[in-house]
This record gives sequence, structure tokens and C-alpha cells, in this order.
Amino acid sequence: MSLFKKKRLSRPLPEHIAIIMDGNGRWAKKRNLPRTAGHAAGSKNFKDIARYCNKIGLKYLTVYAFSTENWKRPADEVSNIMNILRDYLKDAKNFKDENIKVKFIGNISVLDEDIRILIKDAEDASANATGLHLNIALNYGGRDEIINAVKEIVAEGISPDEITEQTISERLYTKGQPDPDFIIRPSGEYRLSNYLIWQSAYAEYWFSDVLWPDFKPRHLEEAIEEFNRRNRRFGGI
Ligand code: FPP
Repeated sequence: MSLFKKKRLSRPLPEHIAIIMDGNGRWAKKRNLPRTAGHAAGSKNFKDIARYCNKIGLKYLTVYAFSTENWKRPADEVSNIMNILRDYLKDAKNFKDENIKVKFIGNISVLDEDIRILIKDAEDASANATGLHLNIALNYGGRDEIINAVKEIVAEGISPDEITEQTISERLYTKGQPDPDFIIRPSGEYRLSNYLIWQSAYAEYWFSDVLWPDFKPRHLEEAIEEFNRRNRRFGGI
């Protein structure tokens, strides 16, 4: 038997973890590989972490795959990320088999038609899954999301004094879901980068220098342990 006992996963789990999958480019650069290799490694890691989250019984996981700002990247990098996504979506059956319910958040309408179809197929195939709710943020921007909500509110003719937090929450891509209570950003950056800016108002944050492709279940376990050490007061005392 090993001298080292495996540490037990700290409980309770956060209800909704949101991850900014950052550092793929630097991971590749460190290895003298093209950035595309970093995204491929990041995508593989994303699948492993999603599976792990499902296994431990996490209810909600939201990952940032592509932001409204990521279009500024060179066209070949953008098309590489879209191709990784295509490959991932072609395995849509896996979501169902793994009992993961997948949902895309962001402005999907401007994406290529084949991707939109694959997204719909993946969402439909997993609609009745009862395990992890996996949100994939794609062409997602928090400000864009809030602007859309405001436009809907105006279009519906709702009067100003009727507007509450709920009025906004119900018009976000994440409607009906609990807000993320834990936001994780690896890769040594300390920013939210327009991610879930409304929903994260009371979230705890955890940053790490590990680059996303190297971010393993044990890092997530460490993060959850830290989450459970924090004393969340929600503005009270
Ligand atoms: C950030 O790292 C990563 C991205 C903008 C793309 C994330 C995409 C994936 C992990 C693959 C596709 C995802 C799915 C859901 C299949 P970066 O490129 O900004 O890294 P850097 O800051 O080191 O340059």
C-alpha cells in the first residue's frame, strides 16, 4: 500500500464552477509547438476535466471556449479553434452516453451553419441527461449578453419600475441556472475578461499559474479545498 493516502475531495462542492481555459498558446510556445497544438491539448484537457466534474457530481460547469473578442486573432487560429470544436461536437453521442447535458451560451447565430447544426444536435441529444450541466461559452461576451437582455426588456415594453435583478437574469443565456459560485482562471492572469460579468457578482475566484493544458483534477481538488475554507457572507457580517 502506498505510504501516501490519497486525500479526499473536499466537500461540499461548489454548485457551479466556471473556468477560463487560458494559457494554451503559452503551453505550446514553451514546447516550441504551434499555437494550434496548444488548443488541441487544451481541448483534450477540457474533455478530461468535464468528465471528472461529472464523475464527482458537480451540478454545473461553464467553460470559456471562444469570446466575442477572440475574433481579433489571426484567421487561421480562429478556424483551428472552430475545427477543434467541430471534431468535439461530432462526438455528440458521447454527451448522452456520459449523461452530460450540454448547452452553448453566446451568440451562436453568426457561426457557420454546419457548426450551428452540430450544436443543435449535441444539445438535443443530451437534453434529458441528468448529470453535469455543461455550458460551453462560444462567441460569448458578458457585455454583449447584458445588451441583449436590455434589448429584450425594451422590446417587451417592460416599464422601468418593474425591472428587478430577476428581469435581467431571466434574459441571460444562463437563465434558469444558478449563478457560478466559483470562478477559476489558470495561466497567471488575474482578469475576468468579460466572462459571466453579471452572474459572477458574488462568486469566489481562484487563480493559478498552471497553464490550462496542465490543469489536472488535482488542481481542481486544491481549488475546491480553498473554496471550502472561504467564508462567504454575501454582503452580510
Ligand atoms: C485561451 O488560451 C484559449 C482559447 C481562446 C481557446 C480555448 C479553446 C479550447 C480549449 C479548445 C476548444 C474548446 C472546446 C470546448 C472543444 P490562449 O490561446 O489565450 O493562450 P495564451 O494566453 O497562452 O496565448
